[in-house]
Amino acid sequence: MKKIFKFAAVALILLSSLVSLGRITPVHAEGQTYEIGVAIYQYNDNFMTLFRNELEKYFKELGEKDGNTYNLEFQDGKNDQATQTEQLNNFIAQGKDLLIANLVDPTGADQIVLSAQSADIPVVLINREPSIETMELWPGKTTYVGVDARQSGVYQGEIIADLENHGDVNGDGVVKYIMIQGDAGNVDAEQRTKYSVETLDKTIKTEILGEPQRGNWDQAKGQEIAANALSQYGDDLEVIFSNNDGMALGAIQAINGAGRTVNKDIYIVGVDALPEVVELISKGEFTGTVLNDHFNQSHTAAEIAVKLLQGEEVAPYYWHDYVKATKAEDAELKRLDYREETIDQYKERLKTTYGE
Ligand code: BGC
Repeated sequence: MKKIFKFAAVALILLSSLVSLGRITPVHAEGQTYEIGVAIYQYNDNFMTLFRNELEKYFKELGEKDGNTYNLEFQDGKNDQATQTEQLNNFIAQGKDLLIANLVDPTGADQIVLSAQSADIPVVLINREPSIETMELWPGKTTYVGVDARQSGVYQGEIIADLENHGDVNGDGVVKYIMIQGDAGNVDAEQRTKYSVETLDKTIKTEILGEPQRGNWDQAKGQEIAANALSQYGDDLEVIFSNNDGMALGAIQAINGAGRTVNKDIYIVGVDALPEVVELISKGEFTGTVLNDHFNQSHTAAEIAVKLLQGEEVAPYYWHDYVKATKAEDAELKRLDYREETIDQYKERLKTTYGE
């Protein structure tokens, strides 16, 4: 009788653990299908195309490894926040399991995070950094995966400062430059503009020709701005700072059109390390760029998304580094660890490293 009782007790424990396993396993087990809505600020952008393709590819790889299916629905925001907000609201209405958002205008991120929160849909923000206040809205379920734009600005300045003549082609002790900017209110545009020149200023005096001009990340606009500056300032123009490589490629067309020679009588720096720019660097026809590591950013975004899909709480920030690229090898892509940061740690770092 005692034996029978013992047997029954063991059976009961086994049964109950099977039941609880049954309750837990569906979340972590293989064979789950997850619906993910991905909102891209605009498809017509070389850098975000690299990012988007790598993200899609890596989710497939993850699914092959863990046996889950990650269904990604991509939407093109066409550089219009109203269009994108509608797309994100549709994702929420459809009951997606997770959102990945590359916002057109990150200053409006609060509404999107709050709508997602009311439907309990976690959000991974990429590429365009929102304000710290946005990241405080729904802790654990909202995260930003990216790179610190200040670092890219510093590297741009260092690339010119490290040249033998520090960019001072005519040797008059002052580097005269133009600044081609991304769109207004974009953290990358603001920080690259600020820190590139501040960094070069530590080595040599600088002087802007005209005002910074908005090329909105666009190659054709970059060409137009550079062509006008080249005809207006002629040989006085020694350095072109461009907030990204796309606009810098336009500037290169203008430089060629004006009969000037990069690395001889003019210098140019961009950000992103687009393949076309890396190719020009290896031919000595582009001064330098800064790798905006879409490879690691997209892989980390996908890995953090999987954690969120499995119900985990995540950190507000996951960072990768920019890489200074003055030769092709510098821009090689390889998987690297991310750095996690809390909001307090981030604030502290901004204070101690950048005095912000
Ligand atoms: C990239 C640009 C890109 C922009 C879009 C920046 O981080 O450097 O190339 O066009 O993001 O938001």
